[in-house]
Order: sequence, then C-alpha cells, then structure tokens
Amino acid sequence: MTVIDCGAAPGSWSQVAVKHVNSLGQDKSALQGFVISVDLQYMVPVPGATILSDRDFTSAKCQKEILNHLRGQLADVVLSDMAPNATGVKSLDHDIIIKLCMSVTDFSRVVLKDSGSLLCKLWQGQDQRQLVDRMAARFGQVKVVKPLASRKDSAEVFVLAKDFKRDKEDET
Ligand SMILES: C[S@@+](CC[C@H](N)C(=O)[O-])C[C@H]1O[C@@H](n2cnc3c(N)ncnc32)[C@H](O)[C@@H]1O
Repeated sequence: MTVIDCGAAPGSWSQVAVKHVNSLGQDKSALQGFVISVDLQYMVPVPGATILSDRDFTSAKCQKEILNHLRGQLADVVLSDMAPNATGVKSLDHDIIIKLCMSVTDFSRVVLKDSGSLLCKLWQGQDQRQLVDRMAARFGQVKVVKPLASRKDSAEVFVLAKDFKRDKEDET
C-alpha cells in the first residue's frame, strides 16, 4: 500500500504507516509499500518513509513533488494531522485548519485509488458540515471519529472517509 502522511513531523504516524505497509521490506512474505511524509517543518529521517520536509503541503509545487515520487501510481491512503499553530481564537483556528482539510480533500481526488481512504484532523466549528459534505460527494462512507487518545475537552476530531469513488474528472 501507498500512504501519504500530511503534517507528518515529528513522524510518529509515519513510523506506524511504515510498519503497516512494510515499506522497509522486513516482512519478506508481504508486498513492500511506500510512505511519503510531508511537513512544513524539518523532519529527521524516518526509516522507510520518503521525507518531504520544509514543504507547504497546500502549494502546487509540493503536490506536484508528491505526484513525481509516486511515478504514476495512485495512493491507497491519505492521512492529514496537519494543524496550524493555534492562535487561541477558536473560529480563526477552525478556519485555518478547515482550509488545510479542504486542500487535502481536493488533493485526494487527484491521488487516491478507487476505494482509497482519507483521514483528516480538524478542530470542530461552523464549516465542519461543509467539509464532510465535500468528502461525502466522492467517498462511499464518511464519519466523524474521536479516538480514545484524543482529549475529551479538545475540539479535535477526525473525519474518516472510505471507499473513494474515482471519476473521469479526477486526473493525475
Ligand atoms: C500535530 S503535528 C503532526 C504530528 C504527526 N502526525 C506525528 O505523528 O508526529 C501537526 C503538523 O502539521 C504541520 N503543518 C501545518 N500546516 C502545514 C502545511 N501547510 N503543510 C505541511 N505541514 C503542515 C505542522 O508543521 C506540524 O508538524
């Protein structure tokens, strides 16, 4: 499997993805996967992941670079744990993270395989419905999840979208 991890620094999700997709090829009986990890910040190497650090995921240049690394292949999973530095103004922080989520959702249309999945973190707010609707237009299942590891008093939730339906419009 191929996984794109957006907002990957310092790299714990990428480490888990590397293990799951066997991108180091340690399990000889399984297929070897591929992980691309992107972040605005510098990242120390994560063995088994292709690191694109000091990159703004939302830029066309960065997204093109990701596609170049995929060499015409499509991805199975797109993850986004991207978050801005919180200002403390809830509505503003929500607006910024929603823009990141929208950018990941639009990029997923370009990069995901049919039946692929997208998991995206956001801070709850007024535009959450709009994001979920945008995902629901192209994914068979979309749900908002709050894992046990996420603090109950935090506005953080994750939108999990499965079963991507590729369309002729979705070109790489
Ligand atoms: C909560 S941390 C991610 C933690 C990571 N999932 C892990 O397992 O170590 C959020 C990250 O999103 C990154 N980020 C925010 N905006 C971004 C953008 N436009 N492009 C790429 N990364 C971004 C931040 O630099 C930060 O490292």
